[in-house]
Amino acid sequence: MKEIWIEKYRAKKLDDIVGQENNVSKLKSFIERGDLPHLIFSGPAGTGKTSAAVSIAIELFGEDWKQNFLELNASSNRGIDVMRGHEDRSSSSSMVSVKDYARLKPSTPLGFKIVFLDEADQLTPEAQAALRRTMEIYSSSTRFILSCNYSTQIIPPIQSRCVILKFSPISPEDIKKRLKYIISQENLDVGEDVLDAIAEMSEGDMRRAINVLQTVSASGEITEKKVYEIFGSSSPEHFKSLVSAALEHGLFDEARERLDRLLIEEGLSGIDIIKGIHASIRKYPIIPRKKIDLILALAETEYRIVMGGSDNIQLDALIARIVKIGSESD
Ligand SMILES: Nc1ncnc2c1ncn2[C@@H]1O[C@H](COP(=O)(O)OP(=O)(O)OP(=O)(O)O)[C@@H](O)[C@H]1O
Ligand SMILES: [Mg+2]
Repeated sequence: MKEIWIEKYRAKKLDDIVGQENNVSKLKSFIERGDLPHLIFSGPAGTGKTSAAVSIAIELFGEDWKQNFLELNASSNRGIDVMRGHEDRSSSSSMVSVKDYARLKPSTPLGFKIVFLDEADQLTPEAQAALRRTMEIYSSSTRFILSCNYSTQIIPPIQSRCVILKFSPISPEDIKKRLKYIISQENLDVGEDVLDAIAEMSEGDMRRAINVLQTVSASGEITEKKVYEIFGSSSPEHFKSLVSAALEHGLFDEARERLDRLLIEEGLSGIDIIKGIHASIRKYPIIPRKKIDLILALAETEYRIVMGGSDNIQLDALIARIVKIGSESD
């Protein structure tokens, strides 16, 4: 089977990580010193949290890194047993408990090993309390790196023991930089327009960007159109012409026709359409007051659709509101 690129091109050293400059420079200074504080990496998916943790272990421990790095996923085992030993091993996986592992002597000259706990914000407060005790007892021989989407979901006594590094969504430019590296390694010919589309649509998530690049390359049709199709969306031009018909020209029927095309011919869902219109409106050159009203209208429509309102009626109402906002004087 062909290797998947998110593994093949996983960042293995801090210099492979694009964006996140502040975090990378802090982590490099810890590595230079040969010591780590406990860390919390917080931020959205696909921004390099796991990659940064693995890179640190490789850079600190060299070849021995695997013996001195334990990766656990909190959400696959949300309860307290991740923290304590398993009483009933038959019912749970053979996963080592944090406590069992923290107890082991590190085999590196640095004198500590790393426990990386993914999705730590999924741990129950009880499990977090147990984790806090383990962190305290074994802190001379173990450093913890907790990864989460929101650091506010981590109990304060753990937060105060850790240095918190926030991982931001990756900018389109940085995404392109990494994709270009992959393209050169794979000897591919991918146009700038295709890269722009991937970088824009990935919303800061490098994992998605790399996956879409691989999918579009494998499809044999390396085009912008294909990229939007893979994202389950349509070309930004289509959304722009819908918005412009309603907002600038007050043409409800015409906007409605364009909407139907997206819904029926391209098979987009109501939510896909809201996202597309949203992206288009954010970039649209109109006065701030109107833009604000439009965004509020979008948010309301999204909410109603999620709550079970019909796509058709809600999207019609949205277009009606866009026409109305457009007809107001500036
Ligand atoms: N900043 C980055 N620079 C280079 N590659 C990145 C970056 N962020 C993510 N990647 C790549 O994207 C893929 C997923 O990254 P990673 O597993 O580190 O994300 P994550 O932040 O841990 O996401 P999650 O919250 O879903 O666990 C990997 O192939 C990784 O190399
Ligand atoms: Mg991760």
